[in-house]
Order: sequence, then structure tokens, then C-alpha cells
Amino acid sequence: MPHAPTFPLNAWYAVAWSHEVGKREILARTLCSRPLALWRKPDNQVVAVDDACWHRLAPLSLGWLENGEVVCKYHGLRFSGDGRCTHMPSQDEVSPGAGVRAYPAVERHRFVWIWLGDPSKADPARVPDMHWNEDQDWAGDGKTLFAKCDYRLFVDNLMDLTHETFVHASSIGNTAVAETPMETSHSGNSVTVQRMMRDIDAPPFWRAQLGKPGNVDRWQIIRFEAPCTIVLDVGVAPTGTGALEGDRSQGVNLRVLNTISPETATTCMYFWSLVRNYRLQDATLTALQREMNAKIFEEDRVVLEAQQQRIDMMPHAPLRTLNIDAGSFRARRIIERMIGEETEPAA
Ligand code: FES
Ligand SMILES: [Fe+2]
Repeated sequence: MPHAPTFPLNAWYAVAWSHEVGKREILARTLCSRPLALWRKPDNQVVAVDDACWHRLAPLSLGWLENGEVVCKYHGLRFSGDGRCTHMPSQDEVSPGAGVRAYPAVERHRFVWIWLGDPSKADPARVPDMHWNEDQDWAGDGKTLFAKCDYRLFVDNLMDLTHETFVHASSIGNTAVAETPMETSHSGNSVTVQRMMRDIDAPPFWRAQLGKPGNVDRWQIIRFEAPCTIVLDVGVAPTGTGALEGDRSQGVNLRVLNTISPETATTCMYFWSLVRNYRLQDATLTALQREMNAKIFEEDRVVLEAQQQRIDMMPHAPLRTLNIDAGSFRARRIIERMIGEETEPAA
């Protein structure tokens, strides 16, 4: 029985950090079960084509680049960045129509985004908003996590930070998170979940960031942009200084930028970065926060990969929904709707 699709194709997906795609090497990545070969043309433009040669399907990523074109390592066919075959060995003319599929690619917010679906719908204005990643009022850095689980398990995970209390008890979690109810709202392709915690003990991480004693007011505002981008607006301020009413000037604020692209139905590439709006020039703090966050996300990866194994072993068992899952429930409904719009037979 073929699996029902788990991801829409009419969406921009992050496939690499901008700095990972160059003019000398071909980068091989898998996105939505499609093998892709990526490189930069001499004019710096990023291109992405199917990583399977038109001739005998050898991966083009095994080959090399010449004048911005890829040369297949097997029999030397050449393809330009738009996928056209430009040279065939032992024949004067290229067979008409020979080529591989090329995909729209754009660079935004330090990432390369690919559109696998209907190219006429690939509007760069629809790239998810992660602008903090290159905004001069914010500083920080991130990493990529490759995980053996359905990308939607990370969506569930990030849409409900209750798990912080349990999975991340030693760093960012404390009982206030699990005990404070959340508010969920949604519109169009986005869902917002927020928790406002008043007058609580600061968890160790936040205590260190704030550098002030005493209780804090803490906020967590989670915004999902379908199908797989989630921006966390999180921070703390000394209790009673008005942060939850809008004056965050006494507090510290982080944005955790997450976009989790499906590789296959059960593996994903999770691009994240952690940016802050204080101590902008402090490179040591940037490295420290990046490594600390990488450790925290490792804790998630362990649980989610184990969860995926159980889902694989028990494919008919339901995933149940509690109050804490309101945000991820909404997010999954939007993803399902997007998939449904693509798979419905045309009228
Ligand atoms: S498989 Fe690529 S040239 Fe033959
Ligand atoms: Fe987590």
C-alpha cells in the first residue's frame, strides 16, 4: 500500500545554508524524496536540478563543474543550470529535448529555498519569514540537524513547548511552562501559540541571560508558517517591568528560527538558528548559545527518532490529541489541506 503523502510540494523548502552551496563543488541533498544536485553558476546564482543523469540516471553530484555546467561522471554528458543538456560525447548534436528537471531556487535569510511543485506558483514572496537571520538588530548563528523522523514530529514538538519541562529539564524547562495554559489562534497558513508566565522563578539558562536576580515574567510566542517553519519569540524580564504588556526594554529576547524540510517521509533536515537582540558584538556568546542550543535540540532528536521507530512499528496506532496539542493539531490540519489541494483530481 503506498503511503499517503506527508508533505505538500507547492511550498518553498530550505535545502541548505547559503554558504554550503558553492561554485566548485556540487552539493547533493534529498528533498521530499527527490535527489537534488545544487551548485552556483559563475554569476553566483544557485541552481538545483534532479540529481540523476538524463542518460542512465547516474547521480550528477558524482560529477564536476565546468563553466557553471555540471558534467556527468559516467559518460560525460553536460547540463546547464536550467537542466538543458549541452553536450553529448561522440555525437555532434544533442538529442532534442534531452535534459534534467531544474527547480526554482532562491536565497533568503541565509538559506537556499527550493520549490518542487508547480513552477508557475513559485513566488519568492512566499518564502517563510526568517528575516531576523540577517537583520543587523539581531545577532546569532545556527546549525543543521539531520534526523530520522517525519518532519511533522518536529512541528508537533515546537508547537508545544510543554515538553521543555520534561525533555529539557536541566536547561530551559521548569514546571511553570507545563502549568501555564496556552492560547492558540490561527489564520490562513499560520498558527500562533502563546504562553505568558508571570512572576516565576527563572530557569538556569534565562537567569544567566538576564544577569539579574529575582523572579521574572516570561513569554513564549510560537508562530507556525505552513508547512514547516516555526519562529519562537521567547524571553524574560524582571517581574512587573511590563514585558508581557509590550515593554520588553528591561528584558532579554531571543528568536529561535526553525525550518524543518522533509527529506523523505521518515527523515528530515532541520535548519535552525538562535538570534538575540542584546550583546550583538559578542562572538563568544554567539558560539556559546549556538552550542548550547545544539545540545538542547539533540535532546529532542533522541526522543523524536525513538517516537518515529514506534510509529513505524505500530502504523495503525493513533497519535492522540490533548489540550497541549492544540497548536500542532492546527498546524497538521493546514499541512493536510495543502496536500489535499495538490492531490485532488483536477475538476
Ligand atoms: S549516465 Fe550520465 S552520461 Fe551516462
Ligand atoms: Fe525541545
